[in-house]
Amino acid sequence: MLAERNVNVPASEIRLIYNKIIGRTDVFDMTAGIPDFDTPEHIKDAAKKAIDDGFTTYTHNAGYIEVREALAQKLKRDNNIVADPETELVCTAGGMGALMLANMVLVNPGDEVIYPDPGFVSHFAHIKLAGGIPVPVQLKKEHGFGFTAEDVESKITPKTKMIVLNSPNNPTGGVISNMELKRIAELCIDKDIFVIADEAYEKFRYVDEKPLFIGSLPGMKERTVSIFSFSKTYAMTGWRIAVATGSSKIIGAMTKLQEHVIAMPTSIAQKAAAAAAIGPQDCVEEMLQAFRKRRDLITKGLNDIEGVDLQPPGGAFYAFPDVSAYDVKSFDLVHKILNETNVVTVHGTAFGKYGEGFLRLCYAVSTERINEALSRLDSYLPKLL
Ligand SMILES: Cc1ncc(COP(=O)(O)O)c(C=O)c1O
Repeated sequence: MLAERNVNVPASEIRLIYNKIIGRTDVFDMTAGIPDFDTPEHIKDAAKKAIDDGFTTYTHNAGYIEVREALAQKLKRDNNIVADPETELVCTAGGMGALMLANMVLVNPGDEVIYPDPGFVSHFAHIKLAGGIPVPVQLKKEHGFGFTAEDVESKITPKTKMIVLNSPNNPTGGVISNMELKRIAELCIDKDIFVIADEAYEKFRYVDEKPLFIGSLPGMKERTVSIFSFSKTYAMTGWRIAVATGSSKIIGAMTKLQEHVIAMPTSIAQKAAAAAAIGPQDCVEEMLQAFRKRRDLITKGLNDIEGVDLQPPGGAFYAFPDVSAYDVKSFDLVHKILNETNVVTVHGTAFGKYGEGFLRLCYAVSTERINEALSRLDSYLPKLL
């Protein structure tokens, strides 16, 4: 009864574990990628004002022009990307909305798309929905879960249309170095390959190198869709708002498609995003500092557990420890841990086949919860050796 495109797309396996704990108050949940901060006040105020001022009707399909102008300022200031707000920028319903539109306008049935594995679950799904062939590139622990130009090159065939980059990466926290990013850009220009740059964790980096954004590199604007979600950066996961930027041709096509799907993201969320983009940025810095402390705490705590090995994550807010020493399939290990300790983790294979032997723990939770989870894991895991 259901169409093939639906059957071919798996549900997120994070749900398999998450659904088991719904309504339970006795668990230490380390699964969901939701910052434990509230949306900053000035952003909430802008939304309230938008309602009071009557910004409650349909907007341009790419978003209000004044919102796009504010977003263009943010892109210039933070990402060194110069975008014409009239034609080179579209507001979308979260990063997810932008990822889906970008795949739909760029990928033809049969095109190959290279993507990171372990990686964000929807990358695979979006490629499939567009009729493309997902080609995983393994992110390796020994390379800090980064993507190298050689890794990419080894997967290129005459059918390769696009590469999906996500740095810092969910679930590994891996970061692509600036040098590799430049080499990947050169490769894409040389081989005429497009890029989706999923910059969802742009602000949460713990490496010293000042980040470069691939969409800002010479010759890349016309072949890159850069996606900046507000979900994590400004603790706005429920607002469903992001901005995508690229050439007017691609952004125009995404805007046209968006009209037929959701018309535009919510007018109120758009106004809130403008306030986030051009308002005070200390809220982001505060979150970064808190996540940095928690990252140090969880890195030390996990490495102190016999049998666990974690490279310090370079970014995002996930720890992706190697637990292969226990010789238990990740999926089974997650259930054992839940049953024995009430700590909830996600199996690495929820993020692709190369996630076997790993677990994901989100540390965008309180230090109390991290400490409790660590102590419970420490009292149980070594028994499996
Ligand atoms: C790498 C990555 N990209 C995109 C998203 C989608 O986020 P949103 O649609 O809330 O912007 C997420 C959410 O977890 C993510 O981890």
